[in-house]
Amino acid sequence: MIVLSSSPGKVILFGEHFVVKGRPAIATAINLRTRVTLRPKDSWPSIIRSKPLNALLKIDNNLNATGSKSLIHFVKALELLSEKGFKLKPFEANISGELPPSAGLGSSASSAASFISALSEYLGYHIEKKDLFILTNELEKIIHKNPSGIDSTIVVYGGTILYRKNEGFTRLNLNQSKRFSLLIACTKSKRSTGELVEHVLKLVERHQKVLDHVYDAAEVLVKEALKSLEENNLIKLGELMNINQGLLYAIGVSSLELERMIFEARVSGCLGSKLTGAGGGGCMIAVCDNPKEVMSKLSPFAEKVFIADINAPGTEVKLIK
Ligand code: PMV
Repeated sequence: MIVLSSSPGKVILFGEHFVVKGRPAIATAINLRTRVTLRPKDSWPSIIRSKPLNALLKIDNNLNATGSKSLIHFVKALELLSEKGFKLKPFEANISGELPPSAGLGSSASSAASFISALSEYLGYHIEKKDLFILTNELEKIIHKNPSGIDSTIVVYGGTILYRKNEGFTRLNLNQSKRFSLLIACTKSKRSTGELVEHVLKLVERHQKVLDHVYDAAEVLVKEALKSLEENNLIKLGELMNINQGLLYAIGVSSLELERMIFEARVSGCLGSKLTGAGGGGCMIAVCDNPKEVMSKLSPFAEKVFIADINAPGTEVKLIK
């Protein structure tokens, strides 16, 4: 028996960081995925190999792990499934996919959801999305300390969502009369979401009176963005993305590398552009009428530039006998 599982990456269209303090945000799943292939193994230790992270972890039957620290959070998945009463069996899991790690495209949540769903299926537990979200977010807590839950939600459920911490999500049925794809450009800098979130929370503590207004503006902005998506008004959507970028700049999560590409996209004809995810490096997104032309303008500054389809399906699990 072989289990194949995959989950999408994501971009946050509006509201990253503000979402950590309970404001709404909009995210969409993209057509770049993480895939996990899980096979039975005759004996312990179990093995997890990640191609994107170039890492390997061995886990013995007492759940002691040796190998790469970047994979250590996967042990939590075994602990959680064992606590739920499932008898663990040795396995070999290979993680692959197209998502660049630590770039704000949800690679950690995507690999966690794929791994947990594959392992559950292998142990005879066809996990429901609701439980998969809870377990994925437990793994995200190990990596990011204080996640809002938006990444775990969007990679598990897919589509495009309006999300609010502790309240959950509403699926958005996009008006697809004028479909748009996103231009995504990634900087050469990797960064830690946990550290950036902490930086913002400390800044808010120091400048609460000023930043309360920025958080209020971010909330109104998301409501306006919802309307622009419903109306399929890409000009308005682009303008709101530019305003959102201004707010993210104000809370100190942009960078020179990001600003260069964000500005280049705008002068090259995009309707709007902003960083996506935690910032401080990672990737920017743009909505453009001419994304292919703009790609070549951004390439000199970027580690990777590509066009992504939005609204991709969430976690999918398949069993091959
Ligand atoms: O960069 P990412 O994919 O880890 O995005 C995190 C989004 C934040 O709003 C910055 C944090 C969170 O948990 O919502």
